[in-house]
Amino acid sequence: MKAIEIAEETGPQIALRLVRRDEPTPDQTLTGGEGVVVEVHATGVSFPELLQTRGLYQVKPPTPFVPGSEVAGIVRSAPAGAHVRAGDRVAAFPMLGGWAEVAVAPTFMTFPLPEQLDFAQGAALILNYHTAWFALRLRGRLAAGETVLVHGAAGGVGTASLQVAKGLGARTIAVVSSDEKEQVARAAGADEVVRADGFKDAVKQLGGADVVLDPVGGDRFTDSLRTLNEDGRAVVVGFTAGSIPEVRVNRLLLNNVSVVGAGWGAYVLKHTEVNQQIGGELHALIERGVVAPLVGARLPLEQAADALMLLEERRATGKVVLDVRT
Ligand SMILES: NC(=O)c1ccc[n+]([C@@H]2O[C@H](COP(=O)([O-])OP(=O)(O)OC[C@H]3O[C@@H](n4cnc5c(N)ncnc54)[C@H](OP(=O)(O)O)[C@@H]3O)[C@@H](O)[C@H]2O)c1
Repeated sequence: MKAIEIAEETGPQIALRLVRRDEPTPDQTLTGGEGVVVEVHATGVSFPELLQTRGLYQVKPPTPFVPGSEVAGIVRSAPAGAHVRAGDRVAAFPMLGGWAEVAVAPTFMTFPLPEQLDFAQGAALILNYHTAWFALRLRGRLAAGETVLVHGAAGGVGTASLQVAKGLGARTIAVVSSDEKEQVARAAGADEVVRADGFKDAVKQLGGADVVLDPVGGDRFTDSLRTLNEDGRAVVVGFTAGSIPEVRVNRLLLNNVSVVGAGWGAYVLKHTEVNQQIGGELHALIERGVVAPLVGARLPLEQAADALMLLEERRATGKVVLDVRT
């Protein structure tokens, strides 16, 4: 089969190779046991793969390896008794190996793909939307009627979080860096949009936030805490700004606010039953038309390096997807 490998840890422009490899067998899941073999039609491009081209992500397989955490396609084979079977359209999360014509994913990480979504949207579904649900609902305890502030709101996690928050009945405030990204955030359901520069005062004027969802980190974190209303929760999701913020905990005491971490992958690999629960909640939001992944760029598999450069240069909006079969 055709696949893209990370051959060396030298950055997105030179680390990748287009290769031919043997197709994976059902027993080659990363979690052990027999998995679901998927004929891949589209595969997602995410920040972890960018970091992996430099050896900077916590999941660090020996090179060469095929990256790609999530795919959408058609089931070739599934274990007996699984909730999907050969011929089904699915979204699946193999964790690695997705940038290839065939991938194998754990059964608990495979989800029927609703008819409303095409394969590109299916490849945009699991990492960002499951993270958004996990971060907002399970970690941030977001409730209907509350206000959520979403950083990096035009990005993959950001657009997913805006849609999920709307589905949960929340009011949404998006933080973005440009006019183009403002339009994307509005299309994803932002009620209000503010610029990253000076966002704290703008958000306070809008009444503050009950939950902050932060995939960006860096120096804006302290200002995020200042926007929280009493009993507010800041949910740490990622660090695209490049630096990990530190918190002076007296701020938490003075304002009666909390900071919580949301590490979706580590949690759901341990509590595997949560995956189908989140999948079911998202399925309902898809059927209501609230969740519909925004695919900002679609490139052929062969242009994986260009896809990574969109993330590297902060040019990506929504989800970047590679078409594997055209
Ligand atoms: N905790 C978890 O379980 C989990 C799960 C999935 C992803 N993540 C993490 O979440 C983060 C966001 O992922 P994503 O897929 O949403 O990325 P993305 O689509 O590239 O969006 C990230 C956003 O970050 C903002 N940003 C600010 N400074 C930036 C910089 N120096 N370089 C690039 N972007 C910058 C950009 O928005 P503006 O230009 O508008 O500021 C951009 O839209 C990543 O760190 C990823 O690893 C965590």
